[in-house]
Parts: sequence; structure tokens; C-alpha cells
Amino acid sequence: AKAATEENIPASQQWSFAGPFGKYDRAQLQRGFKIYKEVCSACHSLKLLAYRNLADPGGPSFTPEQAAAVAAEATVKDGPNDAGDMFDRPGRVADRFVSPFPNEMAARAANGGAAPPDLSLMAKARSYERGFPQFVFDFFTQFQEQGPNYIAALLQGFEDTPPEGFTLPDGSYYNKYFPGHSIKMPPPLSEGQVTFDDGSPQTLAQYANDVSAFLMWAAEPHLEARKRLGLQVMIFLLILSGLLYFTKQRIWADAH
Ligand code: HEM
Repeated sequence: AKAATEENIPASQQWSFAGPFGKYDRAQLQRGFKIYKEVCSACHSLKLLAYRNLADPGGPSFTPEQAAAVAAEATVKDGPNDAGDMFDRPGRVADRFVSPFPNEMAARAANGGAAPPDLSLMAKARSYERGFPQFVFDFFTQFQEQGPNYIAALLQGFEDTPPEGFTLPDGSYYNKYFPGHSIKMPPPLSEGQVTFDDGSPQTLAQYANDVSAFLMWAAEPHLEARKRLGLQVMIFLLILSGLLYFTKQRIWADAH
């Protein structure tokens, strides 16, 4: 993939999880999960998540019962049993998210030759796509938000007609933010497609942000604990520096 150019750098967004005090917005993660489940999971796996993670602290905070109910809707291939056969059973909380395709060949066959990538680490994988000079800038500013910025932009970046002079290969779609612009993913989201029961607007922009935040959590489930510890360490170091300074004054008080 080539680095982003000027005109297709995704806009930086205000994420609740940005900055040293950043926290996930629980309601947003729950909406994002709903979008993943109803839309994205038809094509994209999320292999690194288990159903139990939906109830983990620092995540969307579903109750264990809700996580179990989600798991039970899935059909998991298990086996071999005593007779040596594979069999289907309802999912349990300990199972990983079930993938939409049995293998990569099947995934490619169903999607015009391009396998939909696993989304578990997508929010991180795509934070390295901006090339060298921006990479340095991002590193010191809002490096980790580049992933969700990109996903949110990608989902809203489809255009019906490619610009003058751009030949779109058969079975591809034009996307402003996809490197090379020709993507095999059909525009997955449209206004009103997913129903929210918390009154949030059912717009493309809202969907794109919510599912991006959810994928950020999937990729970085311990973000809150990490930031909390980081903050405590900084406070500790500050106090320690003060103590060391006064200790030094004391010890060298008589020196001439
Ligand atoms: C690629 C997200 C729904 C099929 C991707 C990529 C992302 C993504 C982040 C990677 C782009 C990159 O490589 O930079 C999502 C999200 C969805 C969604 C968040 C739900 C809102 C779907 C659906 C389908 C699909 C429903 C199938 C009908 C694909 C395919 C690719 C892809 C085939 C590979 C494209 C290529 O390499 O040309 N998607 N997707 N996606 N997605 Fe989706």
C-alpha cells in the first residue's frame, strides 16, 4: 500500500479515548458493536475477540448475561466428538468471535478476489500508513488516533463516480481514502441502516465513528488501564523528583 497523499489524509476527529485522560464511551462502543454485528460481520472476522470480552472492564460493558446471549446466537464448529465427527453447537462466552468464511479461499471467492481482512487489529494496522514525515509528527501528537480516523474516513469516502481520467477496474469501488482508490469492498453503510435504541442519530457519520471507536477498543482493549497507570507513574515521578531535590539540598547544605 502506498502512503496517503495530501488530498486523502483522513480528518482528525475528537475521540473520547484521546489524550492522557482518555476513556471509551460505553454507549458508543455498544452502538459500534451493533454495527459490526449487523453489517461488517457478514464479511469481516474479528478473530482476536472472544464473546466474554464484551463484558470486560474498560470495554463496552455489556453484562455477562448479554455477552452470553450474543455468544448463544453464534454457531460454532466443534469436534471431533467420540464418533470422530465435527458438529455444530451454539456459542459460549469462552469462544472467539465466529468468522464469516471458513477459510481465505472462500473469503476471496465471495468478494471478487480480495479477502476482507480481519478487523481485530485494523485500528492499529492502519496507523502506520501516512509515510515518513507525517509518521514523526503523528508519533508526538495523536499517533494512535490515526487508525480510527482512517477507518471512519474510509467508510464515508466512497464516491459514485471516480474523478475524470480514473479507470475503475470491474467489481471495484472508488474510495477517496483507500490507498490506490480502487477497493473491493462495496460501500457497507448507509443512513438509517442500523437502529439505535439510545436515540443517537442514525447517520452515516455517526455509524462510521461508532464502529471505528468499537474497532479501536477491539485493537486496544486495555487502553484505559494503560493510561491510568501512565498517569500514576507520572505523578509518582513528579513527587519523587521533588523529594530528591529537597534531599539533595539537605545533603549539600554544608558544602562550600
Ligand atoms: C476491506 C472495514 C463491511 C468487504 C476493509 C478494510 C476496512 C474495512 C478497515 C481495510 C481497508 C484497507 O486495507 O485499508 C469495514 C467495516 C465494515 C465493513 C468497518 C462495516 C461497517 C464490509 C462488508 C463487506 C466488506 C459488509 C462485504 C460485502 C471488504 C473487502 C475488503 C474490505 C472485500 C478488501 C478490499 C480490498 O483489499 O480491495 N473493510 N468493512 N466489508 N472489506 Fe470491509
